[in-house]
Amino acid sequence: MFQVLAADSIKEQGLQPLLEWKQAQVYSGGIDSGLVSLEKVDALLVRSATKVTAELLDSMPSLKIVGRAGVGVDNIDITAATKRGIVVVNAPDGNTISTAEHTFAMMAALMRNIPQAHANVKSGQWNRNQFIGNELYGKMLGIVGLGRIGSELAKRAKAFGMSVKVYDPFLTTERAEVLGVQLSTFDNVLQEADIISVHTPLTKETNGLLNERTLSKTKKGVYLLNCARGGIIDEMALAHFIEIGHVAGAALDVFKVEPPGDHPLLSLDSVIVTPHLGASTREAQLNVATQVATEIRSFFENKPVANS
Ligand code: NAD
Ligand code: MLT
Repeated sequence: MFQVLAADSIKEQGLQPLLEWKQAQVYSGGIDSGLVSLEKVDALLVRSATKVTAELLDSMPSLKIVGRAGVGVDNIDITAATKRGIVVVNAPDGNTISTAEHTFAMMAALMRNIPQAHANVKSGQWNRNQFIGNELYGKMLGIVGLGRIGSELAKRAKAFGMSVKVYDPFLTTERAEVLGVQLSTFDNVLQEADIISVHTPLTKETNGLLNERTLSKTKKGVYLLNCARGGIIDEMALAHFIEIGHVAGAALDVFKVEPPGDHPLLSLDSVIVTPHLGASTREAQLNVATQVATEIRSFFENKPVANS
């Protein structure tokens, strides 16, 4: 019997492929819940809250597979897992639509001051002149990283009459043509976009991709979006560029450290935030849980796994 620990809040319905399988015993609860001895766990399922460090892996000598119910595997020490021969699988496309929709919603909310106006009316005020916004129509959206989520965002932006300019060193011109976006250099996106949204993974190359130097190349009045990973936009540099009036505002779903605590960006009126909600829909959570549960079962049944 394989012992499976579903840590973080993994949607139970999505665990069905494992729950209905007689060879698996599934425990739903945090790493420290004590539901099962960590030494006996064969498979671990996580979202982003559990940090799968080398130390945690060391405490799980029977572990054979880690399933990430989501895209980013940056909360998993892949090097340490690989050294131990532990397979890591993720669910690369189960939350694409939800995250693209959330990014689009954040962009619209940012341009129309919706969170600020909402708070104002709720506090008993009615300051219509304070919340003059901008149309999306006719604006240029710069997308950095045109993978699954970036591509879905591009389609939605085009439907709203925006032009889309993209920087992605791994994107082919054919794919850009199919999506009707303009493939460009990073500098050109920085210089021309009215709104810039980042959709890369967090890697050594993308950590701090938007920093003091690169932000200084953007248009005065640019808006920035990060619904990918905290750290792709350097948070201190962003706060500085907003304070000096160069960046007009930002919408952030993710932070370098989550929750961010007492953070300078949170005190800025033109910054709107959500607590890493990109993938938090019923549909996406069911999709990603089902995908990784299926992968884990396939692994133990010696069938091919798709997303390792
Ligand atoms: P993806 O792998 O499909 O796309 C990433 C794209 O980034 C690829 O096209 C790749 O070529 C490009 N890229 C890589 N390095 C680059 C660089 N240096 N410069 C420019 N482009 C580069 O990934 P995805 O599923 O679209 O996810 C994108 C990001 O969103 C990831 O960071 C993921 O972890 C994050 N994410 C966040 C949430 C959320 O809840 N906020 C949900 C899902 C995914
Ligand atoms: C992901 O990488 O899939 C997201 O950040 C969503 C999540 O962690 O749930």
